[in-house]
Amino acid sequence: MNFKLFFNVVPALFLMGCAGNGGASSTLAPYQNESLSLDERIEDALSRMTLEEKVAVLHAQSKFSSAGVPRLGIPELWCTDGPHGIRPEVLWDEWDQARWTNDSCTAFPALTCLAATWNPAMSALYGKSIGEEARYREKDVLLGPGVNIYRMPLNGRNFEYMGEDPYLSSRMVVPYVQEVQKNGVAACVKHFALNNQETNRQSVNVIVDDRALYEIYLPAFKAAVEEGGAWAVMGSYNKYRGQHCCHNQYLLNDILKGEWGFDGVVISDWGGAHDTKQAIENGLDLEFGSWTNGMNWGASNAYDNYYLAHPYLELLKRGEADQKTLDDKVRRVLRLIFRTAMNTHKPFGSLNSPEHLAAARRIAGEGMVLLKNDNGVLPLDPAKMKRLLVVGENAVKMMTVGGGSSSLKVRHECLPLEGIRTAVGETCDVIYERGYVGDLQTEFDGVMSGQDLSEKRSEEQLIADAVAAAKQADAVIFVGGLNKSKRQDCEGYDRDQYGLPYAQDRVIEALVAANPRLAVVLVSGNAVAMPWIEQVPAVVEAWFSGSEAGNALADVLFGKVNPSGKLPFTFPVRLEDNGAFVMGEFPGGDSVRYNESLFVGYRWHDAKAIKPLFAFGHGLSYTTFEVGNVKIDRPTLRDKGSLHVTADVTNTGDRAGAEVVQLYIGDEESTLPRPVKELKGFEKVMLEPGETKTVTFEITPEALRYYDDTADCWTAEAGKFTAFVGVASDDIRGSVDFTLE
Ligand code: BGC
Repeated sequence: MNFKLFFNVVPALFLMGCAGNGGASSTLAPYQNESLSLDERIEDALSRMTLEEKVAVLHAQSKFSSAGVPRLGIPELWCTDGPHGIRPEVLWDEWDQARWTNDSCTAFPALTCLAATWNPAMSALYGKSIGEEARYREKDVLLGPGVNIYRMPLNGRNFEYMGEDPYLSSRMVVPYVQEVQKNGVAACVKHFALNNQETNRQSVNVIVDDRALYEIYLPAFKAAVEEGGAWAVMGSYNKYRGQHCCHNQYLLNDILKGEWGFDGVVISDWGGAHDTKQAIENGLDLEFGSWTNGMNWGASNAYDNYYLAHPYLELLKRGEADQKTLDDKVRRVLRLIFRTAMNTHKPFGSLNSPEHLAAARRIAGEGMVLLKNDNGVLPLDPAKMKRLLVVGENAVKMMTVGGGSSSLKVRHECLPLEGIRTAVGETCDVIYERGYVGDLQTEFDGVMSGQDLSEKRSEEQLIADAVAAAKQADAVIFVGGLNKSKRQDCEGYDRDQYGLPYAQDRVIEALVAANPRLAVVLVSGNAVAMPWIEQVPAVVEAWFSGSEAGNALADVLFGKVNPSGKLPFTFPVRLEDNGAFVMGEFPGGDSVRYNESLFVGYRWHDAKAIKPLFAFGHGLSYTTFEVGNVKIDRPTLRDKGSLHVTADVTNTGDRAGAEVVQLYIGDEESTLPRPVKELKGFEKVMLEPGETKTVTFEITPEALRYYDDTADCWTAEAGKFTAFVGVASDDIRGSVDFTLE
């Protein structure tokens, strides 16, 4: 019998058996007794542990597990990637998969797609579903979600995060964390902090001012910890103030554990620890992924030689490291084990259930963003067509395999072409043309997609064939974008260009010249340049949307789902329109200066009056909405009080749909520079045709605060503010002024 299952079930049975005579607690050691408080249990366990046992719980024993205390029956901790699905089982200390046949998961849409739903209920559904899969797979710590801010479009890992805005990512991360943890599985929020590029990720020292740190880069982590109650946080690879973030006095001790009162475990990113003394003193609790495979590679420097293993023990024995710091780390790890592996009340979880696939499809459909839709090209009606042409490698290439640690093994990935064919059925012919050849890679860490994407035709021929087919078609759907290969949307590498790779621009231009009824579908986790945007009537951002990608895309293209996704980050026209790029530095060298400071994403575009290609918050629908009648209930806000801004939203079209009403606030008079406006509220409103609803936003002084780096505190300065209500950061429908006294 599986040890973990045995452990989870037996004490529960035992407790049930004894419940009648009230004797359960007397036969259990206090640390095993779940009716006692966590702190009582921790102190009891701690008092029973030897020095060696204490050190043994602070570092890995395999690629993804750490030891418990076998003598006391305190179980191991098992971690798993990642933010989008449960990683296939790997070998004891290899990245290579263990080739199990029972570990295929549901791939949920990438977190960019989740953020694009602008719907915390979708985040809750996501957290619940992925938490159940983690639980079923007997994992204790889910290595996600990731909430690093989208600083610029070349970061290869943007697809794993929740966009450019601290408020949006804060609202979206909280339900994810809460719902995961209801399964007795810890969410490990990553990568703390300032991990906004992959180039030199292990060494780059980020230089950022305190205002940007507190106002832009930290809020989502803070929300995950303070509101979500996250039980674990992963330190990032990069440095901040010259210290690696996995052992960083300022970030871990001062801010996370000090200011925010985090009571959970700081886990190192894999291989992110570099020094024993720093690891001891600067806030790391649990070390993973340092070198060695513990068996044949670096065996003389195996797990016992991790920074928080024998080197730590030696210091303790010599009296050169203090007991108090050690006990604090051990308490945290015990707390995590009690919350997860040793929790006998957790549900059993489920894997690949129809409910999970339905959740993946629903979230994907809600997250897809209709960027442009002229001439009513979308939704397509197959009943009015004889022949529908689909072009592009991303219509047939699996996207759940690849991209780094978030790579998955799924039982089935519904690809766009398959989803389109299933939806159309016999109604009309669906023809496919490749159009371009991208990357033929079909394997990641031993997971084979099983696809053969080889192609013999030349670039010219591929375009010529696609164009010939387009001329015969009633409508054309081009499915392209990026993929999960190196230098696309992929961990470990940043993109090397903003434009679409593999000459896709040529294909799109040729297609639209051949057939103006063209819809371009981008599968990506990042913004891309669209030099053809004036000619192409319809564009959909479909993201990496997981197991149900094809079905969800078909739902949107054929109108079964009325699009309601909104961009969680700005699409600039050119890279030169991005603050981080133009204020230079990206990717920097040994260090990178965030010279743009607070002016990330739309904050930069607003400040410089640069028109984006598509704005933060933008997304169309198949119906139309009017947002207006913006009112405020009182003109003055007092300390500790609140006021309310209301707006009416009406569905003025002929089908049901949802609009995201967005509240931005601008500080009209302030001592320090502030963005023109910042997102401070949003609500997704579902409306039947003709229906009107009133949205109410509460504004408290907290929403008006900024971080005053001259005094090291948050402050809301008295004076005039404006509340803007709109449907995108560049589409404001009404505003009201008020004063903070
Ligand atoms: C990534 C983490 C991941 C870890 C374990 C690292 O390379 O940065 O996000 O959780 O590996 O796979």
